[in-house]
Amino acid sequence: MYSEKYGENINHKLIIDVPLFISQNIQRDISYQSMNKKIIWITGASSGIGREIAKGFAKEGHIVILTARRKAILNKLLQEIKPHCKEASAFVCDITSPKNVESVANRIIKKYGRIDGLINNAGVSVFKTFLDSTVSDYKNVIDTNLKGAFLCTKKVLPYMVKEKSGHIINILSVAANTFFEGNSVYSASKAGLLAMMNVLRSEVRKFNIKVTNILPGAVDTPMWAPETRKKYRCLMMLPSDIAKIAVDVIDQPKRVLIEDIVLRPLKGDL
Ligand SMILES: NC(=O)c1ccc[n+]([C@@H]2O[C@H](COP(=O)([O-])OP(=O)(O)OC[C@H]3O[C@@H](n4cnc5c(N)ncnc54)[C@H](OP(=O)(O)O)[C@@H]3O)[C@@H](O)[C@H]2O)c1
Repeated sequence: MYSEKYGENINHKLIIDVPLFISQNIQRDISYQSMNKKIIWITGASSGIGREIAKGFAKEGHIVILTARRKAILNKLLQEIKPHCKEASAFVCDITSPKNVESVANRIIKKYGRIDGLINNAGVSVFKTFLDSTVSDYKNVIDTNLKGAFLCTKKVLPYMVKEKSGHIINILSVAANTFFEGNSVYSASKAGLLAMMNVLRSEVRKFNIKVTNILPGAVDTPMWAPETRKKYRCLMMLPSDIAKIAVDVIDQPKRVLIEDIVLRPLKGDL
């Protein structure tokens, strides 16, 4: 096993790429496909649900590509999953930046030749009434949750169409179609993404590309304020619960498309 640094920065943000190989002679198109192992890009892999999804896919032997903005945390995760996976890479990527998304997608393609799965997981929330929500809250949430997923999907889709296969999994929220007070901007971002992805699904089925929406209720992650987590932890699901579903969704037979999954804590919404 060796680790190599691909130093050259394509743009200002691209910082790390620490591939972990079992063999130096791995060829790009190697028979990962024949081994039914997939190359999966997970956005927002530095924390919460994305982190557990990355670990889950790695344990199943898939090749995981971790992206988020926090380099040190990504690096730590990479070391953690190392013993469980054949290969993994991490790239700093702010999904609100078209340039950044483009250069990261290009590097993934250059290195692996294709992307079999994209997990649109990165997201931010704002728990404020409509009256209190600012234009900057709106911009941050919509740019990350809606535009970010749009940009990443735009970049991977042409390759999936070319391969006539691929899977896009979106981590949405029950807030996409259940309306909670103090959640209007977040709800709008998730409802918008749900609508966009439902349309996309019907457009790309003919290319054997699957689009799956996962809509979780409350999950115990840093997305919630520490005091909320402390108070309601016992009513929340765990990030690993969502990760298990994502892994199961991607491991379905080719002929099966899971379209939408709604998961709630047993006791219901908070
Ligand atoms: N927790 C819940 O109750 C819950 C319920 C339903 C759905 N969800 C959804 O699940 C997804 C993951 O959330 P989580 O609960 O795991 O929250 P989290 O622990 O706060 O993780 C959010 C992730 O998104 C990344 N991120 C945020 N802005 C980004 C940007 N501009 N570019 C790239 N990455 C960015 C963060 O990484 P960096 O800060 O390092 O960039 C982090 O890895 C979100 O889409 C959320 O809406 C959460």
